[in-house]
Amino acid sequence: MPDFANPFSGMVPRKMTNEELIRAIRLDFSAEEEAVHLYMAHADATDDPIAKKVLIDIANEERVHAGEFQRLLSMLAPDEEMFLAQGADEVNKMQAETEGAEQVAYEGEGELIEQKETGGTIGSLFE
Ligand SMILES: [Fe+2]
Repeated sequence: MPDFANPFSGMVPRKMTNEELIRAIRLDFSAEEEAVHLYMAHADATDDPIAKKVLIDIANEERVHAGEFQRLLSMLAPDEEMFLAQGADEVNKMQAETEGAEQVAYEGEGELIEQKETGGTIGSLFE
């Protein structure tokens, strides 16, 4: 909730270290995702067409903001992209297992180099 009555609201005692900035940006990122959820829930909860349209538009703007924070995190935290790629690889492997792929081989930081399918449908996406 806004705390405008407090004249010291938003005042900071000092500049942040890089690690503190990274943690702050992670919190800012999560606030954007929370805003997307809130605006979409409100859009779902109304039949008013202009309110629904505005809420969805703002939710999509928050998704852009989330992307900006994610990009900023990647710039501030050198290992961020590696962890994101690792997470993406894990999901890709689970997807391949779920869809009946035999083996998925990866090289470097998440680049897909080979996929052998056993009749699943995912292989056609990589050709
Ligand atoms: Fe935002």
